[in-house]
Amino acid sequence: MLIPRPDELTRGEGEFLVAPDTPIMSDPPLRRAAEWLRSALAPSLGALPPTSGNGPAVRFRHAPDLAEEAYRLTVTPEAVVAEASSHPGAFYAAQSLVQLLPPSVHRSAPTPGPLRLPALAVTDRPRFGWRGTLIDVARHFLPKREVLRYLDLLALHKINVLHLHLTDDQGWRIEIKRYPLLTRTGGWRAGSTVGSSRHGRHEDRPHGGFYTQEDIREIVAYAAERAITVVPEIDLPGHTQAAIAAYPELGNTGGPVDVRTAWGPGEHVLNPEESTLAFFRNVFDEVLDLFDSRYVCIGGDECVTAEWRESARVQELMRERGLPDEDALQAWFVRHFDDYLTERGRRLLGWDEILNGGLAEGATVMSWRGTGGALAAARAGHDVIACPLTDVYFDYRQSDGPDEPIPVGCVIDLADAYAFEPVPEGLSPEEARHVLGGQAQLWTEPVDGPRALDYLAFPRLVAFAEAVWTSGPRDYAEFEPRLLAHLERLDALGVEYRPMAGPHPWQQRPDARGWPRSRAEMLADVLGGPEQHL
Ligand code: ACM
Repeated sequence: MLIPRPDELTRGEGEFLVAPDTPIMSDPPLRRAAEWLRSALAPSLGALPPTSGNGPAVRFRHAPDLAEEAYRLTVTPEAVVAEASSHPGAFYAAQSLVQLLPPSVHRSAPTPGPLRLPALAVTDRPRFGWRGTLIDVARHFLPKREVLRYLDLLALHKINVLHLHLTDDQGWRIEIKRYPLLTRTGGWRAGSTVGSSRHGRHEDRPHGGFYTQEDIREIVAYAAERAITVVPEIDLPGHTQAAIAAYPELGNTGGPVDVRTAWGPGEHVLNPEESTLAFFRNVFDEVLDLFDSRYVCIGGDECVTAEWRESARVQELMRERGLPDEDALQAWFVRHFDDYLTERGRRLLGWDEILNGGLAEGATVMSWRGTGGALAAARAGHDVIACPLTDVYFDYRQSDGPDEPIPVGCVIDLADAYAFEPVPEGLSPEEARHVLGGQAQLWTEPVDGPRALDYLAFPRLVAFAEAVWTSGPRDYAEFEPRLLAHLERLDALGVEYRPMAGPHPWQQRPDARGWPRSRAEMLADVLGGPEQHL
């Protein structure tokens, strides 16, 4: 019944009734999780549960023997006891407790009658410490209220990292006080490609939006209450056309450029002047002030190097610095920000192209182009997050059917998402320990708003969540009935997931064509270089 499936679940006899006056009490170290549970149950109970009282109660008990994310949950007819050593474990106990109640507890209105919890004992802990989801808010902006809703949905599935892809060629989405043009100019574009870039369909409808620093502080705090770390991504030296549109001195041509309106990596990339490094250090100074995540992503992927090859000034700087080729220049950017982040107690995260030209000392690699990056980085003693595009790029199509909206990439169906294995074959047990976990990506070229995002994310994210949480063998036939029950929770929450039988008519996009690819074609495309593969 629980998703993701816990380590151990033993059924008991009878049930515990949660009434509006049932106290939810807590030892001081676990109070935040107890508070979350009180506010989560208040709408269905019609009242905020008390924190003290006599009679049957829900108690959060501090259990220092448990690992940080582990919990025990015991339900008897007399009491509910949730045990954990710290907030994440207690929060997951609370999430499991909510899942044991009827799906109507996910509605924002009272559930008639008492809420019944079946008697049982659960012992649980995650397989991986990094259970991530990337949302690309650059290609299409996701309003702040929707980011908060997504955090609740991630929390329901015990996903603990939200990687926000904040900047790209097509938009800059975070307020930087020192450089207001980044959002004033870079925060919107004049139009967008509709569907895959292959078909040249374009819409002259302005698109934009950005998060103020207050919005970001709110998102980060809201996430922390839900045991989620928000990892910011400021992409460089490629994927920077929106920044160059705002401040042309960052680019190589000196001329004005637009915020990019087509998909695919743009040719305008950062120049390697000291002043450009200083600019981005200043940007990161503000970013580090807003995000407490140990890991900070600098992107590093798909840098189109034509401008560097053609610029006499860039070639001169490369000679001065003893950099033999453009890969080495790319690595020079990454090393600079690796030092910068390390000096500030943070860790650099980057896509697997950061392996080209030699991996920076402190770097952790997001392995996306198959498993080669994960193998190379883990063998070199670097930590790795597994995000292979053929397995966990959830912007890719969910079936081979002609009715999938804007079908791009290869087919990643629910069973594929469920079968995702973060540790690639070929690593020794010692090397495999460098695989911190996995991350599902929601790139948003084909996602023009929250409804389309729901369609692509769910239910695949449910399957993914179990793939990164649950230890031991996974069997799709065992998962599917639990998933079908779980869909009732998503219904209660109003999530517009893809129905098991295929999209509703209004979820289809006959107006916008995609570009269906096979797994082999996808891999070959991206290994071939930063060409336009959407
Ligand atoms: C990526 O998909 N360019 C990391």
